[in-house]
Amino acid sequence: MSRKRSDDPRVLISVDALQRRIRELAEEIDRDHAEVDRIVAVGVLKGSVFFLVDLLQHLKTPVAIDFFQTSSYGSGTTSGEVRIRKDVDLSLRGQHVLLIEDIVDTGYTLRTILDLMRFRGAASVKLCTLLDKPSSREVEVPIDYCGFSIENLFVVGFGLDFAERYRNLPYIGVYDGDVDD
Ligand code: IMP
Ligand code: MG
Repeated sequence: MSRKRSDDPRVLISVDALQRRIRELAEEIDRDHAEVDRIVAVGVLKGSVFFLVDLLQHLKTPVAIDFFQTSSYGSGTTSGEVRIRKDVDLSLRGQHVLLIEDIVDTGYTLRTILDLMRFRGAASVKLCTLLDKPSSREVEVPIDYCGFSIENLFVVGFGLDFAERYRNLPYIGVYDGDVDD
């Protein structure tokens, strides 16, 4: 099988490493929710989709699935003002919510979503992110489950994009082009 193209981003986290870590995360989440009837998994669109699908296939705890979508004002991710583009359909009152995100960067997106889920009366809200870029954090967010902590690089693949490209790469790669818009 050769799906590789000459301009593919260089590999930061391989397919195997991703899959191994995702299985470990699912085991951890199952252990922590042994007493819970059901988790409501809320994926943050669109970046979390690949991660969510793989993670939830390994989870033994019963789950309901919903999605949430935000966008930041301005073109970058650093304006700090987060707008809701798609809300969850399910009621979260009394539910054990597992927020699933691709990457925590400045933290503004997750801070906003976490506050909202709590305000809605969720019994618990836990955050599971595939990637964490701790060095670019601007607001504090408590991460309960983290796949990989990475340097301050712009990464693509496995759901993450640059201008909607590269989401379907099966690994996490480093985008070396100019990301400033
Ligand atoms: P935050 O609000 O700054 O934490 O930004 C979170 C969002 O910015 C993520 O959900 C991604 O959609 C996007 N983002 C941040 N860093 C990267 C990256 O390295 N590659 C692709 N998208 C990123
Ligand atoms: Mg995202």
